[in-house]
Amino acid sequence: MIRKQIEKLLNGAAKIEDMPEKFSVSFSAMPGLCDFQSNSAFALAKELKSNPFDLANKIVSDLQGNDMFEFSVARPAFINVKLTDKGISHLAKEIANGKLPQPGEGKSLYIDYGGPNIGKAMHIGHMRSFNIGEAFKRLYKKLGYNVISDIFLGDWGMPMGLIMAELEFEGTLDEYISGERELSLAVMNEAYPKGSKRKAEDETFKARAEELTLSFQKKKEPYYGFWKRLRDVSVSEIKRVCTLINVDFDLWNGESSATDYVETVLDIFKFKNLATLSDGALIVEVAEEGEQIPIPKKSPDEVQRYENPMPPLILQKSNGGDMYATADIATIYMRNLNYKPDIIHYFTDVRQKQRFVQIFRACKKAGISFEGQELWHTGFGTINGKDGKALKTRDGGNMQLLDLLNMLYEKAEERLISNGTNFDSDLKRKIGNAALKFADLSNSVEKDYSFDIDRMLSFEGKTGPYIQYTACRIKSILAKAGRFKDNFNFLQEHRAVVLELNKLWSSYMTSFTEKSLNSLCAALFNTASAFSSFYNSCHILSEEDEKKKSAHLTLLKLVLSSLEEGCEILGIEVPEKM
Ligand code: ARG
Repeated sequence: MIRKQIEKLLNGAAKIEDMPEKFSVSFSAMPGLCDFQSNSAFALAKELKSNPFDLANKIVSDLQGNDMFEFSVARPAFINVKLTDKGISHLAKEIANGKLPQPGEGKSLYIDYGGPNIGKAMHIGHMRSFNIGEAFKRLYKKLGYNVISDIFLGDWGMPMGLIMAELEFEGTLDEYISGERELSLAVMNEAYPKGSKRKAEDETFKARAEELTLSFQKKKEPYYGFWKRLRDVSVSEIKRVCTLINVDFDLWNGESSATDYVETVLDIFKFKNLATLSDGALIVEVAEEGEQIPIPKKSPDEVQRYENPMPPLILQKSNGGDMYATADIATIYMRNLNYKPDIIHYFTDVRQKQRFVQIFRACKKAGISFEGQELWHTGFGTINGKDGKALKTRDGGNMQLLDLLNMLYEKAEERLISNGTNFDSDLKRKIGNAALKFADLSNSVEKDYSFDIDRMLSFEGKTGPYIQYTACRIKSILAKAGRFKDNFNFLQEHRAVVLELNKLWSSYMTSFTEKSLNSLCAALFNTASAFSSFYNSCHILSEEDEKKKSAHLTLLKLVLSSLEEGCEILGIEVPEKM
């Protein structure tokens, strides 16, 4: 907003020279020197064949005496802009009363994230999908989209067949089916790894597990009914974990939800002559012309060779079993039948990237995704331990999502105890989550990164708990201050904080366009630390000048609501005290 205002002034001043309007303004690259800057004089002077420094000076001299901005020129021809007291106050008021841009107005967006597989313990990758997807869901709502969220459970594959086969092998399956034995999460958690191991060693067992999988996929009883019960047990556990990490969904659909449309979808591909048989499997070609990927030459005179273009997508296995991709395609068909969203946005591990390109192309080819509908996929990188290797538990096992959460909550509790804080049992959860989410979302989305649990739980530095702590500190000052009247007559001492608030404000749109929340995280941190410097250099509660004091408190209120708003998007809960 404010940058647009400055651009307008510069363009207005430039007009006296009869120049084309094209000034652009950015945040200052040297915050000590100025608040905003424009480098446009260089290009303009070139166009006018004049001297850039003289040109910049001419424009600036025309803008002297503006009561909100101080303009100056720095060699070779930068135009620097500094806010006056009035400019600071004006900007702060704009931030307090402004509304974010609404690119989503009138648009519906269906968001697909999480995707845990039932019957198996959730792993760390699912946590990333939960964190990132949940934050985007909240951001999209804020930017005006009409959002529907769907967890898209992996509920139609082999794990459930393996559990059934394992129980059958152990001779208890019938009793679980009849209800003589009680089915629980513990039973599933024990049977799955055992079955999975047995499958690798025993061909007959593997074949039986596949047969059972096919049975419930074909809705054969009693397996289909038993599958439903396995699903219910698993889903209630997934819901419990989602509540723990402040994630929720409108829809709890899964790969199974669209099975009734699989036939229809296969028919569409066949009818439109898009499907072909290959070794008994039904496939659809999705490569596009001219899309070959060049293979690097070993020597300069070697003939250029190309890698296989985008491989075809398998719609149906030769045994007639459904494929994961077909489940996704049938799901798009179903979503369009029910909601016709303008956009569908998926969040998965980056290794599924090609798979989504194939699915999207297949849907566009077959008209299953209507013209104009946008299909987006965001892939995220892998998390490793400090040593760059996969995260392990204390006893050396692969770290699952719940192991990680418990570890974080435990460490958060240790920290609270060592700080001597009085706390309720929910506080460690909020702090642990904040540490996790902030660390996770601070990294640009597609990159792999390493996890340093002790560092991300610190109450100082670029961490979630630091942001929470800052917000709590402000809450306590405001509580002590009691009632006051808002006073937006800000001074130079408020400038740094107001400028960070302004950047925080624009980081919402940056995160949106980049499809990565790292800029919002960075802006939250910069706001919190600008506040800390302000707090250290200025005595807020003991300020004797009442006007000054109420301006300080007004700024604090604005910082608090801005931090809370940002935390809300990231899914971080701000406690009352910590
Ligand atoms: N269940 C999948 C997995 O664990 C993730 C699901 C991703 N979403 C989707 N629509 N395919 O890898």
